[in-house]
Amino acid sequence: MSVKKAIIPAAGLGTRVLPATKAMPKEMLPIVDKPAIQYLVEEAVKSGITDILIILGRNKGIIEDHFDRNPELETALSKPGKEKMLEECLGIANLANIFFVRQKQTLGLGHAVLTGKAFVGDDPFVVIYGDDVIVGDDPVCAQLIRAYEKYHRPAVGVNQVPWEDVSRYCSLKTTPIEDNCFFVDDMIEKPKKGQEFSNYSILGRVLLEPEIFEILEHTAPGANNEIQLTDAMAVVARERGGMTAVEFTGKHYDMGNKLCVMQAQVEMSLKHPEIGPAFREYLKEIAKTL
Ligand code: UTP
Repeated sequence: MSVKKAIIPAAGLGTRVLPATKAMPKEMLPIVDKPAIQYLVEEAVKSGITDILIILGRNKGIIEDHFDRNPELETALSKPGKEKMLEECLGIANLANIFFVRQKQTLGLGHAVLTGKAFVGDDPFVVIYGDDVIVGDDPVCAQLIRAYEKYHRPAVGVNQVPWEDVSRYCSLKTTPIEDNCFFVDDMIEKPKKGQEFSNYSILGRVLLEPEIFEILEHTAPGANNEIQLTDAMAVVARERGGMTAVEFTGKHYDMGNKLCVMQAQVEMSLKHPEIGPAFREYLKEIAKTL
């Protein structure tokens, strides 16, 4: 069955990037000239997704506004010389069928995904973690969809992380299948030292079947006292036939981490068609003074 739906949870408090996120969601932090969440929606659309549910919390109305029309702005841009910007602004409002739902309490990523139950119905769907931007020629959602079509099992996007960082992510028990794909029959969220299965961690993309909702409904709070999506996926891995891990290609930026936010800015600025060359010269000058 082809995958046409995605959920983007964007209701977290973003405490690691305060004070920027006191009134503004971290998913709206810009990378050069586009908010992070637009990169995610564009990745989904490039992967063939047509319907996207964005999970919002308080202070997140600005995300709805970003994907809406803005008639005042459109009038201001309806002038000679502004055609490209007008086209871009209209394009954002027409990227996909975007729906919104509110997670009334921030009880964790698993709880956020559960609010998407009615939207998902009986279809497989992708979860795009709202603060994980991944840039590359082959969209990661598409990489997961291909693995799902090939192995007929839910799939997770993974990369190896430094061993000392595994405790901040999750750890997967993996057996190689072929190329960049692994069979997964267990996983653990935020493992303590000695509990790790491997240094393969999920970084921001998973493809699930609706069975996850019934599991989430019975998932107790786990690490950080939050209802963890990983804990529900561990049940799928252990008891429901396993999952596929895809070691994806693409550069990952965690927009919930100040240093990563700045790395994203620098690397994407260098590639930007408008400011790239001037920014490169500026960086060279700055580097001389370091
Ligand atoms: P994180 O754990 O990175 O987000 O969740 P957070 O809680 O905002 O992080 P801190 O406060 O900086 O540690 C990953 C994604 O899941 C969403 C977040 O918005 C983020 O995009 N999320 C998390 C929810 O939608 N609801 C939640 O209850 C928790």
